[in-house]
Amino acid sequence: MAELVRLSHHGDVAVITIDNPPVNALSPGVPEGIESAMQQAVADPQVRAVVIIGAGSTFIAGADIREFGKIVSGERPKLTLLPFLLAIEDSPKPVIMAIHGQALGGGLEVAMAGHYRVLAPKAQVGQPEVKLGIIPGAAGTQRLPRLAGVPKALEMCTDGNPIKAQEAVALGIADKIIDGDLLEGAVSFAREVAGKPAPKTRERNEKLQAVSPALFQAARAQARQKSRGLHAPLAAIDAIEASTKLDFAAGCEEEARLFNECLFSTEAQALIHLFFGERAVAKIPGLPKDVKPLDIRRAAIIGAGTMGGGIAMNYANAGIPVIVKEVKQEALDRGVGIIRNNYAKTVAKGRLTQEAMDQRMALIAPQLTYDGFDHADIITEAAFENMALKKQIFAELDKIAKPGAILATNTSTLDIDEIAAVTSRPAMVVGTHFFSPANVMKLLEVVRGKASSPEVIATAMALGKKLGKIAVLAGNCHGFIGNRMLEPYFREAQFLVEEGASVEQVNQAMYDFGMAMGPLAVDDLAGLDIGWLIRKARAAHIKPGLRVPLVADKLCEQGRFGQKTGRAWSKYDQNRTQSPDPETAALIESTAHAAGIERRQISNEEIVDRCVYGLINEGARILEDGIAQRAVDIDITYIYGYGFPAWRGGPMFYADTVGLPKVLARIEEFEKKHGSDLWAPAPLLKQLAADGKKFKDFDKSKEAGP
Ligand code: CAA
Repeated sequence: MAELVRLSHHGDVAVITIDNPPVNALSPGVPEGIESAMQQAVADPQVRAVVIIGAGSTFIAGADIREFGKIVSGERPKLTLLPFLLAIEDSPKPVIMAIHGQALGGGLEVAMAGHYRVLAPKAQVGQPEVKLGIIPGAAGTQRLPRLAGVPKALEMCTDGNPIKAQEAVALGIADKIIDGDLLEGAVSFAREVAGKPAPKTRERNEKLQAVSPALFQAARAQARQKSRGLHAPLAAIDAIEASTKLDFAAGCEEEARLFNECLFSTEAQALIHLFFGERAVAKIPGLPKDVKPLDIRRAAIIGAGTMGGGIAMNYANAGIPVIVKEVKQEALDRGVGIIRNNYAKTVAKGRLTQEAMDQRMALIAPQLTYDGFDHADIITEAAFENMALKKQIFAELDKIAKPGAILATNTSTLDIDEIAAVTSRPAMVVGTHFFSPANVMKLLEVVRGKASSPEVIATAMALGKKLGKIAVLAGNCHGFIGNRMLEPYFREAQFLVEEGASVEQVNQAMYDFGMAMGPLAVDDLAGLDIGWLIRKARAAHIKPGLRVPLVADKLCEQGRFGQKTGRAWSKYDQNRTQSPDPETAALIESTAHAAGIERRQISNEEIVDRCVYGLINEGARILEDGIAQRAVDIDITYIYGYGFPAWRGGPMFYADTVGLPKVLARIEEFEKKHGSDLWAPAPLLKQLAADGKKFKDFDKSKEAGP
């Protein structure tokens, strides 16, 4: 038997322990090990029942996700867990699954093949496969509805979220919660049921009766709305519907067909890329292994505006006391009011108790002075995006902050080194760029200055995790990863309207591509005034004669800043409902006319290609410059910070799936038409396309680069 699985005996109960760290995935050797242990236990006349349990922190986190890529590339045969699960279910001796941590995906499928399931109080069970673009592939869609009922199986297999032990028992997925030692409890439970007829999940058909077809239609409508663009949730619904129409064996065949269809899809490749990407971004090549993050026990923030307030909520949510300083009482009151309001809305939705809200509010100390800043382990500046102001603040903070405190700036574009240079401790200065609304958005862009110390980088990354964010490390340049790439994206969106597309067409084309919002709708939401300020500050850096978007500045000159003023690219009523703005359309047309821009019909395909290839070309330069460590860091940034569709895997992965030679050819077309200043292909893109490589293979630390 493989060491991955151990067989031991507790009197007349055999205990099979899965020991495949870190999460007991069903890697090659694990199913075989369980099967062989089962055979020994069944053959042993002393054994009356079998307990299957996980070593370490969890039961089984599912199939080994690393294997899927090998199956798709033909390197490994397809997964065939079904016969192994049937063998468990057909065991003449009862099999009790003892679950702690998680039973996810294939883990829950193994558990459901057992005759009984007992759970540790904090255990969770779920079918998260849709989050990887696939569906359960080992009869999960056939056994789960038999235990939990069809409506709950539909919910669990389409949203992919796990449920807690108490709910699992209430639904009938599990039989009992064991307080105290799980193995001991499972072994005594096994003795109670030994010798009695053991229920086989696949024969429990009661919950499959009289299911209305309307249930599946409603589930499909909901999945199309909630998981826009995703195919896997729809496939999961089809497979569950099959459980109500076909016998178990035929249902499994249908599930296998749908599973394979999903596994070989670009959607699955993209989502699996992101699963590993989310974990890869936390790993920083070159950071010494023995670097320990500093302890962050107290925080302080400069600014109680939209960003400062949102950041303060992150600290309070993580249980870290935080001071929020403003210059004027009125601004402070407004900021605290917004924080209170945000929490109150969450309480009203039932997602937070009043008591928890009160505790979090009590952790936030609003004030007009620097009192207590000398005790803060990290001070985050979230003031207006203005270099002179930021320098003034950092010079003050340098005098007040204790030695060893981190000084972080929430700047979204400005030079971290220039800010750090006004302090006597540039090694302690770092960028922590939160995304608006900071209490909601998952991304934290950590910006490394040239002097930022390894401890400070490690602390900022670890802090991101503590605050519930996905932290991505970026190098220092104008706009870092995210906003630097956004420039060509927004630029092209605006050029396209000048050339004849309507605002609505541009927004809709990008929404249909899968973006959370169209680019001009985002501009309206974020406020055009911010970009206006940045453009004014950077005017000297723009090459004379370079084509620049013309309309945004004119809208700003008229005080049209977007949703907050009710007008800009679109019109907004009091409820912020959007409608086309004929005055903006006229302004665009007259501006284009005056500038001699030829107006024409523009296809949705051109809109998508120009916006997305603008992103990708700049992304290639960012990789080349070492501003992003890997292509996946850019992908994660765009998915969690900018609403890029996860099922496309991020902009760089999307380019890989389109094919870099094809992307390059289109960029060269744009270069011919719109000029090299705007569209010269990035050298890295040319090089990778010529070498038949992909962005995801590029590792600057290992290659000399083009
Ligand atoms: N396969 C392979 N590796 C896995 C894995 C899996 N199913 N689940 C986790 N890992 C790896 C992670 O990549 C990570 O590796 P590194 O340390 O090298 O980065 C390590 O295990 C620890 O994982 P986390 O950092 O995520 O640890 P966590 O404690 O925060 O979370 C978890 C643990 C909740 C189990 C989380 O890892 C998770 O959700 N895993 C995926 C579960 C899943 O999707 N299962 C379904 C698989 S598909 C399937 O089972 C199909 C089928 O029907 C047969």
